[in-house]
Amino acid sequence: MKSVLIYYTMTGNTKTIAEAIRRGIIESGEQSDIIRLQEAYTKDLAEYDLIGLGSPIINQKELPNVTNFIEGMEGVDGKHAFAFNTHGASPCRYFARVVPAMEQRGLMIIGWKDWFCSAYYPVIPKPYITDRHPDETDIKEAENFGKEMVERSRRIYAGETGLIPEFPKGKEYDERYNPPELWPRRLPEIFAEYGKVMAEAEFIIDKEKCNYPKCTHCMDNCPVHNIGVLDNFPVFHRSCAMCFLCEQTCPNGAIEIDWEAFQKPHDKLVENWLSKIVDYLEAKGYFRRLVRREEIGWDTPFWKTKKPPRFKIQ
Ligand SMILES: Cc1cc2nc3c(=O)[nH]c(=O)nc-3n(C[C@H](O)[C@H](O)[C@H](O)COP(=O)(O)O)c2cc1C
Ligand code: SF4
Ligand code: SF4
Repeated sequence: MKSVLIYYTMTGNTKTIAEAIRRGIIESGEQSDIIRLQEAYTKDLAEYDLIGLGSPIINQKELPNVTNFIEGMEGVDGKHAFAFNTHGASPCRYFARVVPAMEQRGLMIIGWKDWFCSAYYPVIPKPYITDRHPDETDIKEAENFGKEMVERSRRIYAGETGLIPEFPKGKEYDERYNPPELWPRRLPEIFAEYGKVMAEAEFIIDKEKCNYPKCTHCMDNCPVHNIGVLDNFPVFHRSCAMCFLCEQTCPNGAIEIDWEAFQKPHDKLVENWLSKIVDYLEAKGYFRRLVRREEIGWDTPFWKTKKPPRFKIQ
């Protein structure tokens, strides 16, 4: 069996999980390639029997580079595949979007799994509710998931039936990943407030600090190629996915965003909604809390505790 793991990562969590899944596949006696999404070609997928695709959840879904990759998949009809992701407090609609999109390409989805992980959103409290993941237990789970995928794939290719898990739809999906009873009455209002800040956000280049053309880091790494050049400085076009990778990783801290404006509506989202989702999923046994409630750093959001570059792209 020839298998491949394709992953996109910004801060390294998805890479850690992808590598562990791969170890599980190899321990099961199978070959496995592993490729960063940026270096993967959709036309090469035709040579694999089992394809795993993983990425972080960003703003409640996959980033457009993942959507585009799925849409461009070729020669995969009938092949086995699985989806995985890493996220902070809310698994939300990711699988509900990605799994049907992969099925539409003709893939047979034989599994999916998500992992709670540390989050490095600029306005997120530090420490955050889901920090300190992935830990050894998560990594073991990922290795076992890799083994499970190999075993299931082998048996299905050998002709066994009834092994494909039913993908939850509608209410069943929401109860597992996106519990509607926890949506606060004020959620539309909070979202509207946050949406307004997002829509009005300006990315300002500090021309004293920017080192273009010696540095092209932001344009090379923007997942949606939203950064061009105008008058010898980076310029932001209109297809920004609001992943903030450019601001967080600019080696010179030359991109400025008014994080103060984001802080209040984001805190409201975490307090009124995201922390409730985590409580719910913890009670159901899907989340293990490694940061005590009283440790959560409401007054020390990531952008206040660390200046850019806050992390290096993995
Ligand atoms: C801009 C941004 C948006 C995010 N949005 C979400 C989200 O909507 N839901 C969630 O649970 N986690 C969210 N996260 C947290 C990431 O999904 C989580 O940290 C993930 O493990 C990062 O994966 P990586 O280390 O592979 O990049 C977000 C993080 C960033 C930086
Ligand atoms: S990453 Fe920073 S220094 Fe480099 S080109 Fe972009 S804004 Fe300028
Ligand atoms: S411009 Fe910056 S924030 Fe927007 S998608 Fe690109 S890297 Fe992300």
